[in-house]
Amino acid sequence: AKVSLTGIKPSGEVHLGNLVGAIRPALRLAQQYDSLYFIADYHALTSIRDPELLRHYSRSVAASWLAAGLDPKRTTFYVQSDIPEIFELNWVLSCVTGKGLMNRAHAYKAARDRNVEAGEDPDVGVNMGLYNYPILMAVDILIMETDVVPVGKDQVQHVEYAADIAGSFNHLYGDSYSFKIPQAVIPETGTGDVLPGLDGRKMSKSYDNTIPLFLPENKLKKLVRRIPTDSTPVEDPKDPDSSAVFQILEQFAPASAADVVADTRKRLEAGGMGWGELKNVLFEVLNTELAPMRERYDDYMRPGSELDEVLARGAERARERANRVLSSVRKAVGVA
Ligand code: TYM
Repeated sequence: AKVSLTGIKPSGEVHLGNLVGAIRPALRLAQQYDSLYFIADYHALTSIRDPELLRHYSRSVAASWLAAGLDPKRTTFYVQSDIPEIFELNWVLSCVTGKGLMNRAHAYKAARDRNVEAGEDPDVGVNMGLYNYPILMAVDILIMETDVVPVGKDQVQHVEYAADIAGSFNHLYGDSYSFKIPQAVIPETGTGDVLPGLDGRKMSKSYDNTIPLFLPENKLKKLVRRIPTDSTPVEDPKDPDSSAVFQILEQFAPASAADVVADTRKRLEAGGMGWGELKNVLFEVLNTELAPMRERYDDYMRPGSELDEVLARGAERARERANRVLSSVRKAVGVA
């Protein structure tokens, strides 16, 4: 069977963008593909310096996947740092990757641009983990012989880098071992590339503009109220596609709420529906979908829940796979 793999970085609580961009599409793919989904905890180390917090977010991301419906019997579900093979392959692939490729990576470039704009030295606060980030991500993907990577649009460059890096390795050592070339799969989002956040920009942990999945109901309501809207009067027609509230509704709504979305679009365009009412609709749709997940999430987060055992079993399965590939790579490059 073909292999689907994706990861989430535990640098914050899982949010609506992660669910729509990665978790839901990944769970759909798991029905037909051999699937491996994981918590990219060493990736989070580029920004999270508080060990307790990193532990918390790692558990929380794991609990979120399970609450969203991941079946650990079907899917190999693990924590990245439990797979030491990844970090050995990371060195090998670093040695076949051009520095120029890393210089052009979006996340690193964005960090430098922010420094330049602030009149600082471009490298302030840029650690080598951030610089090497795409190589480690390529390893995550390649070591599991991945065919498809369900991700949001913001991660597509990284998957292309993984394909590039695989190509470089294969060019050098292909007579002995070749990596599979992976491909990104991105969700159909309706309007907008990615799910917008509380300030209208991409919903992102690094912008601090997220709606986390498992807030208490009253907090969820409050956050929905904070999404910016313009001052168009209630009676006037509105353009649904330029409203972050509507975009979140459209991208998040499950199939069962498709007619609510269509009806809301019509009412906005016709005039007579205010932003406040639109926010009520969004809150109801969110809460209906998330409430049952929230209960499962709370169960998994309890100390002594089956979470740790599930992840330990997943790590065992993942290591078997990683080991096979790493052995071939070690022979191919000449250390074994
Ligand atoms: P991360 O943790 O930033 O995001 C996890 C997934 O959620 C998607 N996503 C979004 N999709 C739509 N709208 C948004 N606003 C939005 N925000 C986030 C992301 O595209 C991603 O799919 N580098 C990765 C983690 C990673 C990984 C991997 C992914 C490490 N190794 C190997 C795939 C394969 C990251 O930081 O994602």
